[in-house]
Amino acid sequence: MAVFLAVANRKGGVGKSTISVALAQAFAAWGGKRVLMIDLDSQCNASLILIGGQGWRAARDADKTIADFFYDLFDGIPAQPRDYLIPNVGDVSDAGGKPLRLNLLPGSLLLEDIQGELFVRQARESTNPDVVASRVRGRIENLLRRYGASYDLVILDCPPGLSLAALAALKTADRVLVPFKPDYVSQLAVDRIALLIEDKGTLDALAAVPFEQRRYICVANGVRNSGKDRNLIEEIGLFHPMLDTQLPQKESIANAFDWAPGLKSIEAKYGDGIAEIKRLYAEIAPLVDAALKPAAKAANQ
Ligand SMILES: Nc1ncnc2c1ncn2[C@@H]1O[C@H](COP(=O)(O)OP(=O)(O)O)[C@@H](O)[C@H]1O
Ligand SMILES: [Mg+2]
Repeated sequence: MAVFLAVANRKGGVGKSTISVALAQAFAAWGGKRVLMIDLDSQCNASLILIGGQGWRAARDADKTIADFFYDLFDGIPAQPRDYLIPNVGDVSDAGGKPLRLNLLPGSLLLEDIQGELFVRQARESTNPDVVASRVRGRIENLLRRYGASYDLVILDCPPGLSLAALAALKTADRVLVPFKPDYVSQLAVDRIALLIEDKGTLDALAAVPFEQRRYICVANGVRNSGKDRNLIEEIGLFHPMLDTQLPQKESIANAFDWAPGLKSIEAKYGDGIAEIKRLYAEIAPLVDAALKPAAKAANQ
């Protein structure tokens, strides 16, 4: 069973999709892992980075998106999760020049519609909105978990906001990576998502959970070399577990957003941002391995 890693923050534009894709490529290229990226954001940026605009339109025309998978299953069509995947995605090769073992469940603009439709359907069975929401979320969780069987790592690139799909991803995840950009609202955004992940009602209750027991870890992204950024990051680090790695604001990391035809090495893809991507990978890999171990042990018993 795969480790599920969600990359989440209720704020948009903090680097969720950029970091999701960089980690997916790092785990496949350097860690030799079988990786699946699930694009839960209806803006579909992770899909666009991995297969480009044309590739994404082709996936949509072929009914290979997350929304197609959900619709088919809810309509009782015997869907196989793998039928909706695009294999060997991205413009990065492994050390031997071959495409990475990185597959994609493409995102869809319709994912929001389907959550609404599911809600309406479930509402026929209960009038309590909390019950309905938790049933819909539970169904989405089950669908996501079905992808665990054939992978070492499943990365869930979450949408901003608090859709039921985002909540399902947070519930499914073994670990959650919370990227933030150092600005004055980031502390609030990190506090809010941390409460949700740890299922706590107040910051005092959250503070009682030791850092090493928390399911999430933060990473500062788009960091500039300024005292203001350093202070903000330090302040957030007092209340939340935080990676030592910080990703600077760099042109090469921004450029990695653009998909290009052909394959290149991961070093060529990230240019002078590669040292930070390596450091990020080196810190996350042990967390993923630690989450893999109990599952591997259980399988051997
Ligand atoms: N470290 C960075 N340096 C430069 N640009 C970045 C960096 N991280 C993200 N970006 C850019 O910021 C924008 C938002 O990033 P994105 O990954 O789409 O955020 P999110 O998924 O949280 O909305 C994109 O244009 C991306 O290229
Ligand atoms: Mg995104």
